[in-house]
Amino acid sequence: MSVKVTLSPSGNQFQCDSEDTILEGAQKEGFILPFGCRSGACGSCKGKVLDGSVDRGDYQSSALTDDEVAQGYALLCCAKPTSDVTVEIRQVNGLKDIQVKKLPCRVESIEKPNHDVAILKLKLPAQEKFEFLAGQYIDFLLKDGKKRSFSMANAPHEAGMIELHIRNYPGGSFSQYVFNELKEKTILRFEGPLGTFFLREESDKPIIFMAGATGFAPIKGIIESARHKGIDRPMVLYWGVRTKADLYYYDLAQSWVNDRFKFIPVLSEPLPEDQWQGRTGLVHEAILADYPDLSGYQVYACGAPIMVESGYKAFTQTRALPEDEFYSDPFTPSVDNKATS
Ligand code: FES
Repeated sequence: MSVKVTLSPSGNQFQCDSEDTILEGAQKEGFILPFGCRSGACGSCKGKVLDGSVDRGDYQSSALTDDEVAQGYALLCCAKPTSDVTVEIRQVNGLKDIQVKKLPCRVESIEKPNHDVAILKLKLPAQEKFEFLAGQYIDFLLKDGKKRSFSMANAPHEAGMIELHIRNYPGGSFSQYVFNELKEKTILRFEGPLGTFFLREESDKPIIFMAGATGFAPIKGIIESARHKGIDRPMVLYWGVRTKADLYYYDLAQSWVNDRFKFIPVLSEPLPEDQWQGRTGLVHEAILADYPDLSGYQVYACGAPIMVESGYKAFTQTRALPEDEFYSDPFTPSVDNKATS
C-alpha cells in the first residue's frame, strides 16, 4: 500500500510505500530530510506528525522521549506511515547532486597520534569520482552484513582520499580490528557519502563548533573546507576532551587561529602532569559561560550523544539559539551505525 506524505512547511508531497520509513520514502523521491544514524538512536531525523498516523517502530528512548511522543513527534528513520500523513520537518538543501556510491578503498596509512585514536587514510579508486560535502560520513560494509559509520575528517578538495579518526573503544569489534589487526594496503568496502552534517554556506552568521573527542573529525573537515573556500565568517572551535594527550591534533587546531578564528580546548579530567592552565569542565558549559546570547549564531556539534543533547537543550532553552541553527552529528556507539567517528 502506498500513502501520501506531505512535508510541512515546504508543502512538498510524495507517495510512500507503507513498508518504507518516511525517511526512505522521501529519499526515493529525491527529498533530503535531516538524518544521522538511520537507526533510531541519534534524534537527527525527528519530525512532528501534524496529521494522520504512523507506526513509530523501534527506537532508543534517549532519542525520542515519551513526552515527545505525546506531543506527536516521531523519528522518521523508524516511523512508517499507516495513513496519509503530514509531517513537520525542515528539508535539507545542498545535497541534491551528490550521489551515494558503494566503492572499494585501500588503506594507505594508519597513524596512532595517542593511545586512543587511529588516523586512517584511505585511497579511492582512481577512475571513480567520489563527491561529498565536508562533515559527511561513510559506512564501512563488513563481511557479516553489518555497517560501521565514520565521519570523514578531510575536505573534499583533497581528491582521491578519505581520512577517518577512529577511537579505540574497548569492546568495539571494528575499532579493535583497526587497532590490532588492520594493515596498510588492506582493501575495504564502503558506502557514502551519507548524513546531513555540513556547513550551511548560505548563512553569514558566526559559527561555534563544539567537538567532543574524535567528534573533532568532521569539524576538521568543515573548517579545512571553509578555509579553502575563503569563507571568513567568525568561527570558534571548542574541543572537549579528558586529558591533554587527547588533543591529538592540537597543533593543527592552533595553526587555524587568527583574528576570525578562535580555538578553545577544554579538559574535563586534566592530569597533574598536564600542567594545564586552560579551560576545564564540560565543553558545553564552557560555551554557556562565554556566550550569554546565542540568538545570532549557528552551532555545529559532534561527539557523544550526552554532550550534543546537553548543548542543544542548554543553548536553545537558556541562550536563545534558534532550534534550526543547531546542527549535530552525535555518535551512538551502542548500535551498529555511527560507531566511533
Ligand atoms: S534517529 Fe533517525 S537518523 Fe538517527
